[in-house]
Amino acid sequence: MKLLIINGPNLNMLGIREKHLYGAQDYQALCNFILETAKDLGVEAELYQSNHEGDLVDCIQNAYQRIDGIVINPGAYTHTSVAILDALKAVSIPACEVHLTDVNAREEFRKISYVRLACEKTFAGFGFDGYKMAMEYLVNR
Ligand code: DQA
Repeated sequence: MKLLIINGPNLNMLGIREKHLYGAQDYQALCNFILETAKDLGVEAELYQSNHEGDLVDCIQNAYQRIDGIVINPGAYTHTSVAILDALKAVSIPACEVHLTDVNAREEFRKISYVRLACEKTFAGFGFDGYKMAMEYLVNR
């Protein structure tokens, strides 16, 4: 089984950006956590991060017939991107949405998620553990 873990804009700034919200650990620490989780679950994990909407769409399209499950934290594109939603629908690979923070407890605009419409589950507000919960869900489904 091969999972694709996608992180969108500004997640490469973890450890620097708004530490009171996103914590002190950096993006490399998140990657290590995901790779450790994949090892524990006995699956392969491919990691991708981009700040560009079209690159995220390309990445999802490239997963077609190659990847068994997608975990995606689209960052701010969560709340705006029909293109990412459509890409997830196009490949119809089981997907989970993850957010480090509890987006429903923040600004009103963060309560809207387009991407959620193509995801089987959302894990928000669990920090790094949300990625683990999503990976476990996809492996066990
Ligand atoms: C985020 C929440 C988004 O609203 C925000 O734009 C991000 C990160 C999270 O992981 O909590 O960049 O997806």
